[in-house]
Amino acid sequence: MKIKYLDETPRKLKEFPVENELNLSEQEVTDVAEIFSTPLTGSYNWDYTVQDNRIKKLYELGKELNWNVEKDIDWDRPLPERDETPPEIFWDQYEPYQKLSNEDKFEFLRHRASWSLSQFLHGEQGALLVASQLVSCAPTFNAKLYAASQTFDEARHVEAFNKYLQTRQKLMYPVGSGLKSLLDKILTDPRWDLKFIGMQIIIEGLALAAFNLAKQTSNDPVFRDMLYLIIRDEARHVTFGVNYLEEYLKNLSQEELEERAMFAYEACVVMRGRLLSAEVYEKFGWDVEDALEFQSKTDVTNNFQHLLFTRVVPNLSRIGLITEKVRPLYDELGVLDYESWPTDGDIDWASLKQPLDLSESA
Ligand SMILES: [Fe+2]
Ligand SMILES: [Fe+2]
Repeated sequence: MKIKYLDETPRKLKEFPVENELNLSEQEVTDVAEIFSTPLTGSYNWDYTVQDNRIKKLYELGKELNWNVEKDIDWDRPLPERDETPPEIFWDQYEPYQKLSNEDKFEFLRHRASWSLSQFLHGEQGALLVASQLVSCAPTFNAKLYAASQTFDEARHVEAFNKYLQTRQKLMYPVGSGLKSLLDKILTDPRWDLKFIGMQIIIEGLALAAFNLAKQTSNDPVFRDMLYLIIRDEARHVTFGVNYLEEYLKNLSQEELEERAMFAYEACVVMRGRLLSAEVYEKFGWDVEDALEFQSKTDVTNNFQHLLFTRVVPNLSRIGLITEKVRPLYDELGVLDYESWPTDGDIDWASLKQPLDLSESA
């Protein structure tokens, strides 16, 4: 086993021209790792009380709805054929993009898609690491078991996105700095409920909205099948987060609550900036600031950012984290209207229980 520790997060693209790195022999592999240290405060649970509540039911569902990345997705289907000309897109209004040849426009769009998918992959690895921490940190018995089942779910998600990127997209971007700093914050904070808020409510809530949109807009059946299965798992994770935190946060003092409310707000702001793929513009030799400014002003970007908040804001409100202090900040972001939208706290058992039927994903 060879492991190389890095002092800094890698910034280089990985291309997979012919061979992917999914089946290398042990001799050929050097794992590249980056260390984080965390003052994890864990707890045993000595009463083993199984409360027959929603958390228990969600754990049971998690066990029932396990799936297998290799077996439940048919990876052998060909990639959809490419159109002759690049699709119409908001970039058509941007001069540096206009100047590209059609071939280069396709290449730019491939890089943009790879960038987004790579962020999904890195976010899933973050979820895997946080879920495993929650097994130790969660104080109640049901929550420990649930977190263990979520840990396995997240392992599957990492596996699926990695396979997709290596075998179909053939291009992987490093983690973006915004997402990385949020993951660092969540993984290294000693307070377990902050990990919980950051991961189950903010990152997963935003991911759920982003996955749904990606599934609707993709023309690759493999990708749609994969997202269908992942979205079912994520919906369970967010539901767990809302239900558990709703109970727990009621016990905190006002001061402690405000601290968590501010953390959630800051996390939302970081995640909002996650959509802007600066690394791609740099790669194409564009003026990064200029491209970011153009992108952030387009309707597509604004609509997407709002879509992300439609899921997160109602959930934050439900668990009591839109306090009077942070309310004006959300107002400034223009997302306060979503407060009264449906939350993931009201469990739609029928939809969470749907069998593994991929015909739904078409
Ligand atoms: Fe996940
Ligand atoms: Fe998840």
